Amino acid sequence: MPALDTSIVVGVVGAGAMGAGIAQVAAQAGHPVRLYDTRDGAAEAGIAGIRKQLEKRVAKGKLTQEAVEAVIERLAPVTGLDDFAGCGLVVEAIVEKLEVKRELFGRLEAICGEAAILASNTSSLSITSIAANLERPERLAGLHFFNPAPVMKLVEIVSGLATEPTVAETLYATAAAWGKTPVHASSTPGFIVNRVARPFYAEGLRLLQEGAADAATLDALLRQAGGFRMGPFELMDLIGHDVNYAVTRSVFDAYYGDTRFEPSLVQLALVEAGRLGRKSGQGFYDYREGAEKPVPRFAAPAHADLPPLVVEGEAGFLAPLVERAEAAGLELVRHPAQGAEALPTLRLGELNLALSDGRCATERAADERRESLVLFDLCLDYADASAIALAASAATSEAQRAVAAAFFQRLGLAVAWVDDTPGLVVLRTVAMLANEAADAVHQGVCSAADGDLAMRAGVNYPRGPLVWAEALGLGYVHRTLTHLQQSYGQDRYRAAFLLRRKAIAEERFHE
Ligand code: NAI
Repeated sequence: MPALDTSIVVGVVGAGAMGAGIAQVAAQAGHPVRLYDTRDGAAEAGIAGIRKQLEKRVAKGKLTQEAVEAVIERLAPVTGLDDFAGCGLVVEAIVEKLEVKRELFGRLEAICGEAAILASNTSSLSITSIAANLERPERLAGLHFFNPAPVMKLVEIVSGLATEPTVAETLYATAAAWGKTPVHASSTPGFIVNRVARPFYAEGLRLLQEGAADAATLDALLRQAGGFRMGPFELMDLIGHDVNYAVTRSVFDAYYGDTRFEPSLVQLALVEAGRLGRKSGQGFYDYREGAEKPVPRFAAPAHADLPPLVVEGEAGFLAPLVERAEAAGLELVRHPAQGAEALPTLRLGELNLALSDGRCATERAADERRESLVLFDLCLDYADASAIALAASAATSEAQRAVAAAFFQRLGLAVAWVDDTPGLVVLRTVAMLANEAADAVHQGVCSAADGDLAMRAGVNYPRGPLVWAEALGLGYVHRTLTHLQQSYGQDRYRAAFLLRRKAIAEERFHE
């Protein structure tokens, strides 16, 4: 389907943060735009805000004054819904209340022409439900922008039960023509991003609750090892705990209390205390004047003689780590694999080093009959990670721990010792993100490609969770999840069926 022609008038209802942003996007793309809000003067204020935003770009030399005037000229504040009569698309960004949205679309249906598309920017309500009472529910879809709409690339095109595929396709093409990155989603709780992103916050919160490490260290690990732009705690502080907790709660309730989405008591306590994050001056961090920013707890330089690094088996995706050791001047001894392990065993004298597989170090050392074992965490890219989490089994001596720390420090990585927790920090976060994405794909919420794209464009993940899982090996990710499930005895970590089936196919049938 082609995009809507720029001669088509776009109506926007609600001139708040999102409505004004969406009006700006449509006007910048060349459409005449009509903006309406029930609050007196809100539409005019919205347009004045858009002018201010655009003029900042003029000051930076990124836009000409003429271009600003042309955009502003296309934006018209209107005083009633009747003024939407000539619109080919009306986007709603009003208060997040089902009854109010239903009533609005009921009125718009009577005002707008037959061919007009109706769209909702809702982030948590069901598109199916919003459209249910319309005479023609097939022409309503979700057009879910992210905040701030002029900046964030992602737009989820959400189809309800009745949405006509041509309507979704037209919106998809139109969002692309507006310079956005559209993805298709079916109307299910949280759509794609607000569902798949839940484990990013939830695993961080759990690690904190279990005392694996403090917030500043966990944030640093997800940034410096995981490659995420922000760690979960600083991100939740930015979003606001009231908002983030409410989204988690609504997805949890909508999935009938599935433990995968269980909200955290740690976050609830912050909401109850009014520590909502940056906006209230305090959250996980203290933003008040004079407050000191906590620093990550990295280990002090360790002093230990490093024996040659023995690499048993193919290095696989750990090859950049081994190369880094070689580049740091360490002697390397390579041996063929002893068993059928896909990942290599690393040894430094008596010390065994291994990438976590979802078991805690103590359990794994017992299973594998090893005396001393230090587990290290997953990194997005071992070639340029600047920090790493380590955990030692109960029987690992201080001297052996020093060898492990000295090894990674020699490679230029800051070392954070975390409590002996299953799946460490980055690995369990990535495994759970991939698990959630796989489940969304299995349930027909989105395609695998759109799921990955949504997480990169909507929340800036460094890699799509599914592509990431495939690069690690689905069998390995599946084992990690199974070990997490066994470690906690909780359904929350159960592997998504699609991931399990694909893992079996990959490992047994080399698909
Ligand atoms: P907001 O509170 O900034 O703006 C809402 C505007 O709608 C207000 O100016 C209000 O006066 C107006 N309004 C309320 N009822 C109205 C009605 N019946 N007719 C006309 N105007 C009416 O809210 P915001 O943040 O812009 O959110 C709007 C919608 O966008 C909600 O559905 C929200 O879930 C969704 N959304 C919000 C995001 C965010 O980060 N703020 C992100 C993505 C979606």
